[in-house]
Amino acid sequence: MTGGGGYIGRAIARRLALTSSAVAIVDLDEQRGVETAYLVEEAGCKAKFIRADVSSSEETSGFVEEVERTFGPITIFANNAGIEGVVAPIHEYPEDVFDRLLQVNTKGIFLGLKYVLAKMMPRGVGAIVNTASTSAIRGRAGLAGYVATKHAVLGLTRVAALDVAGTQIRVNAILPGPVQSRMMDALDDQVRNGAGGLRRSGAAGYGRPEDIASVVAFLTSNEAAHVNGAAWVVDAGMTVP
Ligand SMILES: NC(=O)c1ccc[n+]([C@@H]2O[C@H](COP(=O)([O-])OP(=O)(O)OC[C@H]3O[C@@H](n4cnc5c(N)ncnc54)[C@H](O)[C@@H]3O)[C@@H](O)[C@H]2O)c1
Repeated sequence: MTGGGGYIGRAIARRLALTSSAVAIVDLDEQRGVETAYLVEEAGCKAKFIRADVSSSEETSGFVEEVERTFGPITIFANNAGIEGVVAPIHEYPEDVFDRLLQVNTKGIFLGLKYVLAKMMPRGVGAIVNTASTSAIRGRAGLAGYVATKHAVLGLTRVAALDVAGTQIRVNAILPGPVQSRMMDALDDQVRNGAGGLRRSGAAGYGRPEDIASVVAFLTSNEAAHVNGAAWVVDAGMTVP
């Protein structure tokens, strides 16, 4: 899984550890990634941390090879790493931040799909969950880079789901609403410090990382054998039209 050092990623790794023989944790943040690997091992599951940048083709193909060399065929892939960028209206939104969001949130998800599916397709089995966001299905003031790249994650999910049609591979997207995490703290801090935008609607509070992880566990299990190409919203109803 990617982004396994993060709040949601760590919860996914710990949840998958309950039903998997091994979990590989990919992240740029070595300290948090190693901590997650330790927590997975503590749950009685094999674990390995691999430091890699998901926006790099070389590093993504490298971690996929390393995981298969270490643990055998990848059967589940949580394509989860992502960044939030800044909060600013579009006429002030920094171009370099927009470019980095495209690299990590969109190209990173594409590369993960590309190299993992290259392994899964000849075998014809596997389950992938891409972490999008409710920002994949609605606009949010001040979040041009995040919203554009999360819409793209949903598009990539739908293409991949059709590309694997006729196999026993499934590709779905999870769309979390706001979750108690470093990412939401960072966005809330920017708003508190004067960055405009990020208007929210809906009454529900923030979810917990575990609320997302349990749905990833379901989507990657045989219980969801008939679910492919879905945009699975987990937001306590915040985006109900
Ligand atoms: N936190 C929320 O409220 C929320 C809501 C909806 C969707 N999401 C999405 O969930 C995913 C996880 O978010 P989180 O809340 O755990 O955030 P987080 O910042 O805690 O975790 C993200 C992890 O990804 C890693 N990462 C960032 N860039 C990377 C790169 N180029 N290569 C490898 N690793 C990289 C970071 O080091 C970090 O450990 C993201 O895709 C995020 O957009 C989060």
